[in-house]
Order: sequence, then C-alpha cells, then structure tokens
Amino acid sequence: MVVYFSGTGNSKWAAKEIAAITGDTVKNISEDITLDDEVLGIVFPIYAWGMPAPMEKYLKGISVGKNTYVYMICTCGSNCGYADSQVEGVIGRKLNASLSLALPNNYIQGGNCEDEKGAKAKFKAAKPLLHEFAEKVKKRENGVAMLTRGPLPHLMTSVVHPLFNFGMDSGKSFTFTDACISCGKCAKDCPTKNIQLVDGHPVWGKECCNCVACINNCDMNAIKYGKHDRRTYHFKEEYVD
Ligand SMILES: Cc1cc2nc3c(=O)[nH]c(=O)nc-3n(C[C@H](O)[C@H](O)[C@H](O)COP(=O)(O)O)c2cc1C
Repeated sequence: MVVYFSGTGNSKWAAKEIAAITGDTVKNISEDITLDDEVLGIVFPIYAWGMPAPMEKYLKGISVGKNTYVYMICTCGSNCGYADSQVEGVIGRKLNASLSLALPNNYIQGGNCEDEKGAKAKFKAAKPLLHEFAEKVKKRENGVAMLTRGPLPHLMTSVVHPLFNFGMDSGKSFTFTDACISCGKCAKDCPTKNIQLVDGHPVWGKECCNCVACINNCDMNAIKYGKHDRRTYHFKEEYVD
C-alpha cells in the first residue's frame, strides 16, 4: 500500500509512479484505507523541512507492523532536512528506505512558483531517481537513504519546522479577486476542509495546513497570497516525459 498527501499534485504523481512499478495500491490519506502488513509507502510534500500536519495526524492514527517494509518519499523544491527522522519518531520505528525528490516548488508564499521549463527539467531529473529507488523497494533493500538534507538539517526540522507550524497563518493572508466565478473548487479540493463559500466566495477557517492547493489549483487564477500576483504551479501530465 502506498499512502500519500498532496496539495498540488507532485506527491500524488510520485505515489502513483512508484505504485505502478512496484504493483502496489495507492490511496490518498483522506480515503478509507486498509493497510497490509507487507509494505507501506508514505509519500508527502516537505513543508519547512518536515511533513505536513495532515500526514503527521494520519501516521499518528495507524499502527505499523514491525515486519512491514516501510519507505518514505518526500517531494520538495530542493531539500528535506531530517523529515525521515520526524516520520520515524511518529511511527515509532526505523524506515527501511527513504527518498527526497526535488520537484517543482509550489511555495507561492515565498515568491513565484516554477515556470513550465523549470518544471519539465525537474521531472526529467527526478524520474530516473524515483525509478532507481523503486527498484530498491522492489528488492526490499534496507538502509536506503537517497536524501538531500540541505544546510543545518537538524536545526531546520527540529526548530524551524515546529515554529513554522506554530506560525501558520491559517489562510488569513489568502485573498480572492473579481476573477472568482464561485465554482467552489477551492473548497472541494482543500484537504483540511478549511474553506467555505460565503456569498459564493472563499472564506478560510483556522485549519489551514498551508498546502496552497486553493491558490495554485484555481482554474481562474483568482486566489492570491496577500496582494502578490505570483506565478502559480500545479502538476500537469505534460511536464513528465
Ligand atoms: C508551505 C510550504 C513549505 C515548503 N517548504 C519546503 C522546504 O522546506 N523545502 C523544500 O525543498 N521545498 C519546500 N516546499 C516545496 C514543496 O515541498 C514542493 O513543491 C512539493 O513537491 C509540493 O508537493 P505537492 O505538489 O504534492 O503538494 C514547500 C511548499 C510549501 C507550500
């Protein structure tokens, strides 16, 4: 079984890609999931050098067998800190294999997201890495750590990540423009069900996990981060060869 969380589609792509190679079933953590004892793949995007709050909540609610082969794939713009140790702390055991996969950056709070050329280049570099990792998973190799941790990884995951979670703005910086057509996609797509349509327009509650799916996936480009009009990003099949 491969379980994933994804805001803008990168991690969903990675989960489906590895499941297709290993022949496993793939599920979004919002679905009903029955885990098997054989293998568990955990796939998610990196948020401030750690895992997203919904994935942490999901993992806290499951029990992972000591003989299950467990691996993690975290997708990120560039690096992942000690996200693998964070996962191990939550599931209470070592991972057999872990991979960080640099994919297009969707962190619109920080600036423009990746353009099409950059996105294609990242998928081109990432696909062989993912396939190499998948072969190791198929062989049930142990101690696999294909990770780009970045500078000061301990500090980033153990100090900056909790501070990021603490300071999450719960979508209060998110705004919409006149381009909003009240389609409700933002509310439907929100993984924490934090968006309600009031008078036909999105209103954000207090359970935002900062996945920025609402901004990046809006077909009308009607949702903004504050006053910024930045380039959005979400996964498209055409980015992958
Ligand atoms: C709130 C937030 C924080 C992020 N923090 C990091 C980070 O610390 N390091 C990094 O390399 N990428 C970071 N990213 C980029 C994402 O991890 C990356 O784009 C990921 O592939 C998105 O996956 P998804 O499409 O499945 O949501 C961040 C993105 C968001 C929205």
